[in-house]
Amino acid sequence: MTKAPETIAFTDGRLVLIDQTRLPGELVTLECNTVEQTHDAIRRLVVRGAPAIGIAAAYGVLLARPSDAIGPDREVYLRAIDFLATSRPTAVNLFWALDRMKSVIERTPDVQLHDALLVEAVTIHNEDRQMCQSIGRHGASLLGDCRSVLTHCNAGGLATSMWGTALAPIYQLHQSGHEIKVFADETRPLLQGARLTAWELSQAGIPVTVLTDSMAGSLLRTGTIDAVIVGADRIAANGDVANKIGTYPLAVLASYHRIPFYVAAPSSTFDLALQCGDLIPIEQRDRSEVAQPQGIRVVPDLAEVINPAFDITPAELVTAIITERGVIESPNCERIARHLDGR
Ligand code: MRU
Repeated sequence: MTKAPETIAFTDGRLVLIDQTRLPGELVTLECNTVEQTHDAIRRLVVRGAPAIGIAAAYGVLLARPSDAIGPDREVYLRAIDFLATSRPTAVNLFWALDRMKSVIERTPDVQLHDALLVEAVTIHNEDRQMCQSIGRHGASLLGDCRSVLTHCNAGGLATSMWGTALAPIYQLHQSGHEIKVFADETRPLLQGARLTAWELSQAGIPVTVLTDSMAGSLLRTGTIDAVIVGADRIAANGDVANKIGTYPLAVLASYHRIPFYVAAPSSTFDLALQCGDLIPIEQRDRSEVAQPQGIRVVPDLAEVINPAFDITPAELVTAIITERGVIESPNCERIARHLDGR
């Protein structure tokens, strides 16, 4: 039996990614051999989800070596880091991972540079697997009484290197024999919920039902959902959360219906330099994603289109944030600072 590909793999000096633009129709991989190809894969969402973007970019730095061998190695790598940092603006894990690679460059002699960078990228990748398991454990104790949860976008194995963040507690509960059903928002415009969350959960044998984004309110009103759980791309110092567009209205609905609203994210997703969510840069994507989904024109050419990829959910709407370290109930500046102390 052939082994299923991993979301991200680095083998024989090549970065191999599941091409998430092709799911659920085809499970195929895309190989990146250059920094430019890695940048393009992140920008086009071949690899997406905050932690996965960080891991892919870390490996991407290593690809600078063979093709751009002009000047001292460290300059070539630093240029690659600056370039990869322009691939997407919102997920802070990208900059966090690239900063780690930069620190390696600063403290390592030239001759050992490539090996040291490889070790750091592999460490980032391995830490991510541990993070998924820890979030799974902490989240499972919060969701232990739930029979059905609603999620938005994809914060699962395809967004990380293992179980994901928001989906990690669900994998954990499923593994321990707890029956849990997932409702997945389709997540317009790029359908990460319908295409990716529904794909990976059904592969794992976890019951999943897809709904269009506008159906969520009705489900929350009728008591079908016990909790909402989502991932995050960046969390400000006060606990405001940037996540896939459509997360904020879900949080408002959950609050109105007194349903817990959980955010699951590693500590690398916090940006303590930003005091509140309004300071988080929000990626604006191409009009064609909204106006021509799957190449079919659904908006007249003369109409304007907006396409922000993320929105901000104020901390007051968040019941708790689950990290690899534990749970931050009713997050605010002090609780977050205490939780992350010594990060
Ligand atoms: O545009 P995407 O698909 O990269 O957006 C992904 C999300 O919004 C996820 O919820 C977030 O990155 C967390 S992934 C563990």
